Amino acid sequence: MRILGIETSCDETSAAVVEDGRSILSNVVASQIDLHQKYGGIVPEVASRKHVELILPVIQEALDEAGCRLEEIDAVAVINRPGLIGALIVGVSAAKAIACALDKPLIAVHHLAGHIYANFLADPDIEFPFVCLVVSGGHSDIVYMPEHGTYRILGRTRDDAAGEAFDKCARAMGLGYPGGPIIDKLAEKGNPQAIKFPRANLGGSLDFSFSGLKTAVIRFVARDAGATSIEDVAASFQQAVVDVLVENTLKAARDKAVRRVLIAGGVAANSALRRLMRERAESLGIAVSAPPPGLCTDNAAMAAAAAHFNYEEGVKDGPRMDTFATEALGEREGMSRL
Ligand code: KG4
Ligand code: ZN
Repeated sequence: MRILGIETSCDETSAAVVEDGRSILSNVVASQIDLHQKYGGIVPEVASRKHVELILPVIQEALDEAGCRLEEIDAVAVINRPGLIGALIVGVSAAKAIACALDKPLIAVHHLAGHIYANFLADPDIEFPFVCLVVSGGHSDIVYMPEHGTYRILGRTRDDAAGEAFDKCARAMGLGYPGGPIIDKLAEKGNPQAIKFPRANLGGSLDFSFSGLKTAVIRFVARDAGATSIEDVAASFQQAVVDVLVENTLKAARDKAVRRVLIAGGVAANSALRRLMRERAESLGIAVSAPPPGLCTDNAAMAAAAAHFNYEEGVKDGPRMDTFATEALGEREGMSRL
């Protein structure tokens, strides 16, 4: 089964062709980073207009690279929630038009489900149940999955997302956008113990809070005025984020008695997070899965992968399918819907 995946929820216009949920025949990602860099963040209307310009050429390139004609596609998958509404509409409109013209199934995918399912592209035989840490520019969630398509939220951020903290602290340090990869690189040459930045402890909860850390970094940089090396600041900040992400995820894994944890989302590309999660989990006898870094950040192959596994479970949408700027991935365990 060949699925055409489409993703336009933020600042990447992406299309991919994935076979049987496991073989990536193509995964074209047109980044708009250059366009938004001068604003230090994404400008939604600029992103929407760029998606309109890029969507058809990107889909064509994905088909060409996969060596496949549009008629040879068996289903169309598209990320329809959550995201920038104007940006999502571009991908969803294209997906609806193609599915309708070809009379093929249309499958809507939640952005975070896409991130989680990027793990199945690297290893299609991952067994349930597991706990997944999903960390991106907009979300930081700990998700328990007992089976395909069921998502129970065990913890989430109460303020900034992890990626947002990377981006905002990078801006305070006078670095570029997006901040995550820049801090990751600088931190390689820094001392993670140089500055003791705060780690939020939210009682017995698995929730995160990064706003106090962000404020501490902004204050430190203003006070320090260059006395401490930028590499040490980057490494110490990164360590503070990663320590909490790993600790809460492994606590969730122990609470749920799972033998495997997954990491997903743009921040899952972070080298310190990947390293520390593996080290700590292995010492507890817990296996760790992570997509290759290129599949952690936004891409359309993840949409096609999620669609494949959920289509097999009977998930299918029609032309009336809508877009949503916000929508929780699943129920918060022990609480009403988020
Ligand atoms: O999932 P993603 O591509 O887009 C969203 O859904 O938000 O994640 C983007 C976020 C940005 O905040 C970016 O700074 C962060 O992921 N990121 C990283 C790394 N690569 C991307 N954060 C830390 N280390 C990285 N290597
Ligand atoms: Zn994302």
